[in-house]
Amino acid sequence: MKEKYFDNDYVDIYEHNTKTNQITLLKSRVSIKEGNINLSVYDKNKNDEENKRNYIIVYVPLVNIELSKDYIELKNSCIDKISVKYIPENATNKVLKYTIQEDSVEVTEDFNIIAKKVGEYLLRVGIENENVEKEIKVKILEIANSIETNVDSVTLKVGNETTINAKILPETAVNNQLEWKSSNEKVAKVDQNGKVKGIAYGNCEIEIKTKEEPIISKKISVKVELKQNTSVVNNTYSNELPSQPTYIQGILIVNKKYGLPSNYNPGVNATALSAFNTMQAAAKNEGISLFIVSGFRSYSTQLGLYNRYVRQYGQAATDTFSAKAGHSEHQTGLAFDVNSVLDSFAQTKEGKWLAGNCYKYGFIIRYPENKQAITGYKYEPWHIRYLGVDIATKVYQSGLCLEEYLEI
Ligand code: DAL
Ligand code: ZN
Repeated sequence: MKEKYFDNDYVDIYEHNTKTNQITLLKSRVSIKEGNINLSVYDKNKNDEENKRNYIIVYVPLVNIELSKDYIELKNSCIDKISVKYIPENATNKVLKYTIQEDSVEVTEDFNIIAKKVGEYLLRVGIENENVEKEIKVKILEIANSIETNVDSVTLKVGNETTINAKILPETAVNNQLEWKSSNEKVAKVDQNGKVKGIAYGNCEIEIKTKEEPIISKKISVKVELKQNTSVVNNTYSNELPSQPTYIQGILIVNKKYGLPSNYNPGVNATALSAFNTMQAAAKNEGISLFIVSGFRSYSTQLGLYNRYVRQYGQAATDTFSAKAGHSEHQTGLAFDVNSVLDSFAQTKEGKWLAGNCYKYGFIIRYPENKQAITGYKYEPWHIRYLGVDIATKVYQSGLCLEEYLEI
């Protein structure tokens, strides 16, 4: 058992003015030792008459104390505060003492209780030399000291899932709820059960941490790889154009691998155009102005455009942003370039609105950010492709690009 006294006895010193019979506090809480008290106060700036003053020593006895609580439950290493009320408030002796099992808690001078060891204890609080004592039950709870996982890193393919198992040690810890967060949701997402989903090629980290204080955390590195077959599309043009357009799962697909016949010349798709008009009107209601800068392009229009870019920028650069004739989605009549073909469009309010809302009208951003290795083209925040509301919504919610979604 540990016992502590903060200080010695105290008295308050008052001056008694015999003429007016007023008592004025001169000095409070003057420490005194056992024995006689010799008190002399002399002010050399005053004459003898003025220096003739009367002093009285007042001792207000303490009757009782009240504590702000009689039960404290706190997590190990955490802190709580007790306040003490003295009855009467002006009692002279306010020297606290306490006893509690050694090493269980630390008690600071302003009566903060810092938990040190799991268990249940009794904190006895009293006043030195007074016959008052109060008790506080102190319960200190176990807290998490580590997070154990079945893996330290995970590797998975785009679109695939894996679950990380994690548990808190010791298992009896009170803060035993975990929170999961991905450092980059564009690369991998994680749910609150530790299920990780690969979204796009790249690396990120999953942070697992306790929901409640004291916070402890652990990081798991995640590597998301391309599916073997999606990378086939990557910048590789098929040698010849087919005699028929290619439908995969009912979707007309055009990319570097799948071309269109050169005489495929449907003009703008009426359903896609009407969906655009509906979207344009909805956007307008929100103060967003959308318009088509390029829609249907025939084989020969694309041929002229592509060749012009090649002359201007060379073929390698051109192949990152412009399709060879027969490989442009614009030839399907289902694709539109909206407002601007500048990279900065992504940061405009129109670009943000389009990215967040076009699926509701049946469109997807066909060449998303970070998908160049799969689509074969740089990020084009302006290029939308009509798929119908159902499929566009599914593609949008998957976070995948069309090739990944179709697993082609
Ligand atoms: N800019 C897109 C890739 C096209 O030329 O169709
Ligand atoms: Zn386009």
